[in-house]
Amino acid sequence: MTDTLTPVLTARWGEPDSFTLAGYRRAGGYSALPKALAMQPDEVIAAVKASGLRGRGGAGFPTGMKWSFIPQGDGKPHYLTVNADESEPGTCKDMPLMMASPHVLIEGIVITCFAIRAGHAFIYVRGEVLHVVRRLQMAVAEAYQAGYLGKNILGSGFDLEVVVHAGAGAYICGEETALLTSLEGYRGLPRNRPPFPAVEGLYASPTVINNVESVSSVPSIINNGADWFAGLGTEKSKGFGIFSLSGHVANPGQFEAPLGITLRELLDLAGGVRAGHRLKFWTPGGSSTPILTGEHLDIPLDFEGVAGAGSMLGTRALQIFDETTCVVRATLRWTEFYQHESCGKCTPCREGTYWMTRTLRRLESGNGSDEDLDKLIDICDNILGRAFCALGDGATSPVTSAIQYFRDEFLLHQKEGGCPFNPAASTLWADLLSGPGRPASRSGGADR
Ligand SMILES: Cc1cc2nc3c(=O)[nH]c(=O)nc-3n(C[C@H](O)[C@H](O)[C@H](O)COP(=O)(O)O)c2cc1C
Ligand code: SF4
Repeated sequence: MTDTLTPVLTARWGEPDSFTLAGYRRAGGYSALPKALAMQPDEVIAAVKASGLRGRGGAGFPTGMKWSFIPQGDGKPHYLTVNADESEPGTCKDMPLMMASPHVLIEGIVITCFAIRAGHAFIYVRGEVLHVVRRLQMAVAEAYQAGYLGKNILGSGFDLEVVVHAGAGAYICGEETALLTSLEGYRGLPRNRPPFPAVEGLYASPTVINNVESVSSVPSIINNGADWFAGLGTEKSKGFGIFSLSGHVANPGQFEAPLGITLRELLDLAGGVRAGHRLKFWTPGGSSTPILTGEHLDIPLDFEGVAGAGSMLGTRALQIFDETTCVVRATLRWTEFYQHESCGKCTPCREGTYWMTRTLRRLESGNGSDEDLDKLIDICDNILGRAFCALGDGATSPVTSAIQYFRDEFLLHQKEGGCPFNPAASTLWADLLSGPGRPASRSGGADR
């Protein structure tokens, strides 16, 4: 059992001017920056390493270690790119963080750039969220005016330029190498690794790519010390994180808590599953992490605990589904997303997501067969570990886990000749599948 809530990044989200420079300063903001600038860059890296902070963008790579990979004295420009693309279905922590507290991100950026000796930082933000783009632009302008950005920051001799870049809205551009390609002005396709971005990243120069929440956590580490941060969380998953609860939950929202909290505890804080209903399945970290069920209410939500249950902590996007949800339809909907967002660069993902969608549509409409389930597993086997980037791997997660836990529900669709949860939608799919001029291969739907 962990302490319950530890509001650090979210502490002042409720204040009306939390996003302004004045509001941030009043809350003690920009007090970590002079401390960091008084240290040696390597000391800052050492502090972040000692804190145990691991990337909050999904993969959980140790942040301090990532920074230490940037070669020093190489004579090349160094860059920081903040990944603010946030497109994973269910993930909703970075956007509210940037809306409510853009200056904590900016303070984290300056400290990070000082540590890795970067003179330019880019915030790559999803372009559709125009209100967040504008808020960031305003905060960056305020920071320049106050001397937190630009030349000779706080008289330290350190210079930094920050650019807010709005992406065009493609999930693949959250993948770090596709993000760099997009930032350079090309179509956002993933790159081969090696060379890793720390060696050849943006404009072929050493680049750190970090998630918004990772960078925003840095000022609190400098202010309170690495031991304070490392004292929160669990043995290998240190610190706190923002857990986003959405779906069939009484009070959805963001809950900032030490890593290792359980879904049972979070549901208590969120008022439980909506009244009169019970938990059926949930995602621990967005749709590309395998779903879990009511059996997993007490697993610690840290990197190791969730991996031990066969899933991934991912972005801590806890999507809650009660017993009224058709798992086949939810899986179909997620798979349609992956098919749509597949960049098409590699065959397993481009073709695989297409065939998975078709097969799931057939199954959901009651026109599938047992062999379709085997076919789906086979397609997933051919994507997992064979796709060029992690989007392909992620696309298989909902499918294989849904079949693992709810095989009978897939078969029930076949037996019932349609979706037992949503007959009207099922009829629609059957008509689409049968095509114009062809009779539906089954009766059913709303008239059953
Ligand atoms: C398809 C795909 C989409 C991704 N989208 C995001 C995203 O929106 N934000 C993010 O921080 N990381 C995203 N990632 C992970 C990044 O590639 C990268 O691991 C992360 O930005 C590193 O930051 P961190 O070490 O601070 O977590 C995505 C990965 C994949 C494969
Ligand atoms: S796995 Fe999918 S998204 Fe990634 S490179 Fe291949 S086609 Fe593109």
